[in-house]
Amino acid sequence: MSLPAPLPAPWSPPPAGLGSAAIGAEEEKLALDVLRRGELFRYYGDDPAHAPPMVSSLEQEFREWIGVNFALATSSGTAALEVALASLAIGPDDEVIVPAWSWLSCVTAIVRMGARPVLAEIDASLNLDPAEIDRLVTPHTRAVLVVHYQGAAADMAAINDRAEAHGLRVIEDCAEAPGASFRERCVGCWSDVAIYSFQHNKPMTAGEGGMFVTNDSRTYERAVRMHDLGQFRPHHEQFAAALEPAFSGAQYRMSELTAAVALAQRRKVDAIMAHCRELHDHIIATVGEPADLTWRPLPDPDGTFGFELYFYLPTADRAAAVRASLAAQGVPCQQRTGTYPQYHRPHLLTGRAHHPGLSPFRDLRPWPAPGYRAKDFPRTEDLTRRFVAVPIGWRYQPEDADHIAAAILTALAETA
Ligand SMILES: Cc1ncc(COP(=O)(O)O)c(C=O)c1O
Repeated sequence: MSLPAPLPAPWSPPPAGLGSAAIGAEEEKLALDVLRRGELFRYYGDDPAHAPPMVSSLEQEFREWIGVNFALATSSGTAALEVALASLAIGPDDEVIVPAWSWLSCVTAIVRMGARPVLAEIDASLNLDPAEIDRLVTPHTRAVLVVHYQGAAADMAAINDRAEAHGLRVIEDCAEAPGASFRERCVGCWSDVAIYSFQHNKPMTAGEGGMFVTNDSRTYERAVRMHDLGQFRPHHEQFAAALEPAFSGAQYRMSELTAAVALAQRRKVDAIMAHCRELHDHIIATVGEPADLTWRPLPDPDGTFGFELYFYLPTADRAAAVRASLAAQGVPCQQRTGTYPQYHRPHLLTGRAHHPGLSPFRDLRPWPAPGYRAKDFPRTEDLTRRFVAVPIGWRYQPEDADHIAAAILTALAETA
């Protein structure tokens, strides 16, 4: 392979970030509006006609955007995960299948409900391998928690097919993929319940915050009760009748101030996605398909958000060498998401809950038991050592995409 033309000048990446890099006058206006009215709590007063507007507007716009019947804002994506599990009445003696390659709270939320996370291999899309559902299902399995990893939808058709065959509920974790789609329908409307995160690194952000969505009114009512100390306030009765008995819930409500920022960001996230997609597709088209490079295969390439570009090298050593070459050319390519296999995480290495009696692993001795050790996940281990991930941000310009494409070709040639 011949080396591409030398790059004209030293290059440094633009400031990173998606929603956080797009914060501006719109967020300021809505946040100031909340402060000037002095209404920071979403429920004062209880009269739906005079309820403060930010959280309810955010929920309304979210419902319309994703195409679901009900949306409930929460204090974080992790809180939304606990709300989702509780809304489906998942608890002790239940098992939930979850990809081993996923964010911390995909496991901690299940453990905190007293249920047992059952770790699954990913496939080359870096999402749950649908075939794992057949391998891991037991009489205790209640649900599958699907993560749309870094902007790209999992294969929801195959996952729903396998879940339905076994009578399982499906939870979509869309924290890293708001607005992404599968077969032209937004992620989040393919399952029983779904969640989003507005944490600082996410495509739309309010620093912290989350969203729960569902199409089912009883599930919505349970979610509301879980997020508000078991209560179902009059505001929610305009959307669903109060039919479920009260239970002891948590306190995971969103504040008006958080919602003001999230609402401004919601109105920007489609533009952020279009921008990332354009640069993402440009880099792929420019690099093409050189020997030894395999792009992350996506179940629906047209629906990806495009804020991180993934490709594989034939070996882990070559991937490390390519990463080093890219870094030397100024291209950030470390695993920025903080995702790494759950079986390496401290909370799974100990297998503990905050009280020994609550750990769903307490009867599995010795610990870590089969299914919770690196050697049980040869495919996840192999894939996650061989990929290179290159971020694309809101502040990136077409010339930055050109530099990244040239740098990838240079790195391949240098390490061949
Ligand atoms: C896949 C996934 N699920 C859940 C979460 C949890 O969201 P939060 O940080 O808002 O609690 C995150 C974000 O960090 C995530 O990436």
